[in-house]
Amino acid sequence: MRFPVEIVRRTREAVGPNFILIFRLSMLDLVPEGSTWEEVVQLAKAVEAAGATIINTGIGWHEARVPTIGAMVPRGAYSWVTKRMKGEVNIPLITTNRINTPDIGEAILARGDADMVSMARPLLADPEFVLKAAQKRSDEINTCIACNQACLDHVFEQKRATCLVNPRACYETELTFQKAAISKRIAVVGGGAAGLAFASYAAERGHQVTLFEAAHELGGQLNLAKQVPGKEEFFETLRYFGRRLELANVDVKLNTRASAEELKTYEEIVLATGVLPRQPEIPGMDHPKVISYPDLLSGRKKAGAKVAIIGAGGIGFDVAEFLVAEGEKPDIGVYLRAWGVDEKEGPRGGLQTSPETPQPGRTVFLCQRKSDRMGASLGKTTGWIHRATLKANKVKMIGGVTYDRIDDQGLWIREGAKGELRCLEVDSVINCSGQLSQRELVEPLKSAGIPVHLIGGADLATELDAKRAIRQGAELAAKI
Ligand SMILES: Cc1cc2nc3c(=O)[nH]c(=O)nc-3n(C[C@H](O)[C@H](O)[C@H](O)COP(=O)(O)OP(=O)(O)OC[C@H]3O[C@@H](n4cnc5c(N)ncnc54)[C@H](O)[C@@H]3O)c2cc1C
Ligand SMILES: Cc1cc2nc3c(=O)[nH]c(=O)nc-3n(C[C@H](O)[C@H](O)[C@H](O)COP(=O)(O)O)c2cc1C
Ligand code: SF4
Repeated sequence: MRFPVEIVRRTREAVGPNFILIFRLSMLDLVPEGSTWEEVVQLAKAVEAAGATIINTGIGWHEARVPTIGAMVPRGAYSWVTKRMKGEVNIPLITTNRINTPDIGEAILARGDADMVSMARPLLADPEFVLKAAQKRSDEINTCIACNQACLDHVFEQKRATCLVNPRACYETELTFQKAAISKRIAVVGGGAAGLAFASYAAERGHQVTLFEAAHELGGQLNLAKQVPGKEEFFETLRYFGRRLELANVDVKLNTRASAEELKTYEEIVLATGVLPRQPEIPGMDHPKVISYPDLLSGRKKAGAKVAIIGAGGIGFDVAEFLVAEGEKPDIGVYLRAWGVDEKEGPRGGLQTSPETPQPGRTVFLCQRKSDRMGASLGKTTGWIHRATLKANKVKMIGGVTYDRIDDQGLWIREGAKGELRCLEVDSVINCSGQLSQRELVEPLKSAGIPVHLIGGADLATELDAKRAIRQGAELAAKI
């Protein structure tokens, strides 16, 4: 306590009385042996007395085993902590964490939970957030989806922080968009993340862009991602891009599968046709129990009570979370109880001794061929959360398997050093064993001597990589 108080006191001495000095106070440590609420209040009072102008709220430490900013944290989930401090000190209080729309900020202020709200990632996602909100153009805000994929994950990998939904973040002087010298007629095939990003930036530069989308709606795989519990923020990404295309006058043709023949009339062709699920060669893949992840997540098919998932990459993990929590809505109380956060002025660090045990909706087996750690490819700052969620929901993770067959009894796997055969007696088997680039238009166009640009999953079928798809779309649009 002496250390922060001395810093505030000496800083105030150095900057004089009129300089705004904001102190971020950890109001809820979320680590064992953290401060009690009485100690937090004691420190707040001492910091005020030492000369702070405003106190901002810190929630948790990187070491905390409670997710505090990930996408599974409901919006505005921690403003109650700041509210608890109201009345204890006389200086203004700022609240924080997952406040990513003007409406959420407004609601928190209207309830009186805090005097101000702060935003970190939402301003990486859209540096014009405040301007747009003030001008009543909230529908144009690029919303932070709380993925951490390009901001915090990059920081922990010693890479430059940027933003999945805004590739210009921290690239403002390198990724620039000049008015096009010649306005070209450009066809974009595919309205997933890559096609949406390219079409918006290219049309804003003055090109005449037509976007062909075979489905009845824009979004591609993001329409599946948004069905996963904790990934609902992708709805905002699609709302944002839809509005941008409208403002930039992109000619959007839904329900239109572009053919090589009609594309030939354009000056430039961008193929953003994405990916299709890979079909592994396992006997019985045509059994009625087998469901593809697009069929499951889109609601075209329903899984039974016992389910095996083939493939434990990002999509396998998402499907497992979908299966155990299908239909659950983000709710602050449910989230806090699931992670053992104490809402009362109780134990040290704000942690309950026993978090609420979830009642999983199904029995789920998550299998992978590799014998490395399950979920090794997941994000640095979020992978542990997904692993913990599945563990709490009693998902059985089985690594190092080979798949023998699928039949009426279930999924037959071989595991262990001896390759012992075992049947997972399940009602449904979900195939999440990777993806293949969809490139059927490349050959007919190339053989007609027409050059094409490939972006996103059509260029490289990596798993959860909207970050790469959006950046590649933007980079191509900057130079085309
Ligand atoms: C469950 C799930 C969760 C995910 N979660 C994340 C995540 O958290 N983070 C992340 O970074 N990524 C995530 N992803 C991956 C992300 O959605 C993809 O990386 C991204 O959507 C790829 O974008 P794309 O534009 O290349 O392709 P797609 O999204 O596959 O879009 C391609 C589009 O092209 C259309 N199309 C194809 N052929 C034609 C044609 N001939 N004419 C017209 N239209 C055509 C298709 O209908 C489709 O809409 C997730 C994916 C899934 C399935
Ligand atoms: C790239 C990055 C760096 C951050 N660095 C700090 C930091 O140095 N000190 C700190 O108190 N919080 C830091 N934070 C946390 C933010 O201040 C903020 O509390 C948190 O991201 C939750 O708010 P948000 O949902 O508005 O992003 C950082 C966040 C990001 C994304
Ligand atoms: S990378 Fe994801 S979490 Fe980070 S600012 Fe962008 S949208 Fe938000």
